[in-house]
Amino acid sequence: MAEIVVVDRDGAEHRVEAKEGVSLMETLRELDYGTSAICGGMCSCATCHVYIDAASVGQLPAMQGDEKELLVELSGYRPTSRLSCQVPFEASLAGLRVTIAPDE
Ligand code: FES
Repeated sequence: MAEIVVVDRDGAEHRVEAKEGVSLMETLRELDYGTSAICGGMCSCATCHVYIDAASVGQLPAMQGDEKELLVELSGYRPTSRLSCQVPFEASLAGLRVTIAPDE
């Protein structure tokens, strides 16, 4: 476990212990204010959309084609957007700040 900061859709910040060795989505889907992750991590629903703090986005593995294709279709897309099911979470990402994107 490593602590991250999750900003919910109302702008409130929460300190959360994130699971390591699984996707970031696996932590966020368990929060009342987190993501819904309807497809279960198959990179097909985009309901796990989050914004990564601009200072940290470069620490993450590069996006694959499917993820980018889904994201750019969203009205809430930003340069710091990621699908949290496609972001492996490791202890080196402790302190990551993640904002839950609006529902589409
Ligand atoms: S959980 Fe469906 S795209 Fe991430």
